[in-house]
Amino acid sequence: MRSLAVVTVLLSALACSPSGGSAAPTPAARPPVQDAGAPGIGDRDFPLDGNGGYDVAHYGLKLGYDPGRRFLTGTATVQASAKQALSRFNLDLAGLTVDQVSVDGAKATFDRKGDELTIVPAAPIADGARFTTVITYSGRPQPVKDSSNLGTYGFIPTQDGAFVTCEPNGAKTWFPANDHPADKARFDFEITVPKGLVALANGEMSRPAATSGGKTTYHWRERHPMATYLATMTLGKFELRQGRTPAGIPNLAAADPRFRSALDRLHTNTGKITDYWATVFGPYPFSSTGGVVDDFPAGYALENQTKPMYGGFDPDESIVAHELAHQWFGNSLTIKRWRDLWLNEGFATYAEWLWSEHSGRSTAETIFAGFRARPASDPMWAYPPGKARPGDLFNESVYTRGGMTLHALRKAVGDQVFFKLVKEWATTNRHRHVSTEQFVALAEKRSGKQLDSLFDAWLFQPRRPA
Ligand code: ARG
Ligand code: ZN
Repeated sequence: MRSLAVVTVLLSALACSPSGGSAAPTPAARPPVQDAGAPGIGDRDFPLDGNGGYDVAHYGLKLGYDPGRRFLTGTATVQASAKQALSRFNLDLAGLTVDQVSVDGAKATFDRKGDELTIVPAAPIADGARFTTVITYSGRPQPVKDSSNLGTYGFIPTQDGAFVTCEPNGAKTWFPANDHPADKARFDFEITVPKGLVALANGEMSRPAATSGGKTTYHWRERHPMATYLATMTLGKFELRQGRTPAGIPNLAAADPRFRSALDRLHTNTGKITDYWATVFGPYPFSSTGGVVDDFPAGYALENQTKPMYGGFDPDESIVAHELAHQWFGNSLTIKRWRDLWLNEGFATYAEWLWSEHSGRSTAETIFAGFRARPASDPMWAYPPGKARPGDLFNESVYTRGGMTLHALRKAVGDQVFFKLVKEWATTNRHRHVSTEQFVALAEKRSGKQLDSLFDAWLFQPRRPA
């Protein structure tokens, strides 16, 4: 009873103190604002991630970073279209100081609360209208340090620059964003850093690097839609290896000098694995491939679009195979809500097993059987991977049991149907959003089999499938 009462008091205290201060009225007491965009995009597990009422088409990010002072200056030009009439709307932004905001060239007023930047344009935006918001801002970016299993992510300052990996919601640590995968957009980056440093972002260089006044500016363009968590501006001292994959896709590998010895192998493996996945999953969805090894010991890799980042280790083929498979599953085909994360991680994990099989090491069946043999008491069986939990998003089940789900499907429908189905899934949904229900429906259609109970047992039951 006692602890319950304490919890209640705490909860009501939280509800009554928006960061504006104790004198502010409670949200309920404030009159509703007509035509306000919602502060979240509608993912009930991440209620304040992303925003409602508009859809971003393009981010133009002009950024400067001084590693000595750990100071970022930015101008973000966000082109969006309104999905409702908007008297105000939000972007996600964590920390940093906003200096000025304009909407369609007219000065706008703005307000900050927590990680929500609320913008009130001089004139309301009509439903369906395209509008351009320009935000100038600056400050010392702080990464997110999560106490659950997300670790440290977002803009992470390093000795010589920054390691920028943002899954699930760390883009807001370095630019104002509709920071949820349900809103993908195209990106242009213009990044100015001290001479001698390299700034790496997604896509390809849209202009040659230019140095003047002791600074170098890099222009990068990702011309395919991209989720905000896949954006990067990783910078520092880097050695580069440029070329093409054997099949001809531009391929850029970069390594911090401490990982110089990893560079050639990363470049070669990235090339051959990108090409192999194109034969299994269908044409590569982007205009270049690559990989970056930095010296920040993140303890994880992230599949940043066109440039997976490996945090402080020399990646083996297996993890390169994983991150490159994400270019299809996660990056080209993107989830609308985080609970469907197995569609990213289960596929990328299964791709590791396929790569092992392809390389003449253990077959997917052998790997599957090894996991299948875990005792019924193993925590993986208690966690249904089809419902990734916000506090435990990257649980092993989402990866391993997610991958096992695909192997169980493969056994149920046969190799021929399975591989045709996977390729069709990736090809017909290229650059779009996907859901578990759509995958189940396609699997049933192509196999002509009732697969409800298979998917239910593997994805949604808190026990080991029979
Ligand atoms: N998607 C990444 C991978 O499986 C993992 C990202 C982990 N992110 C984090 N904040 N811990 O390769
Ligand atoms: Zn992954």
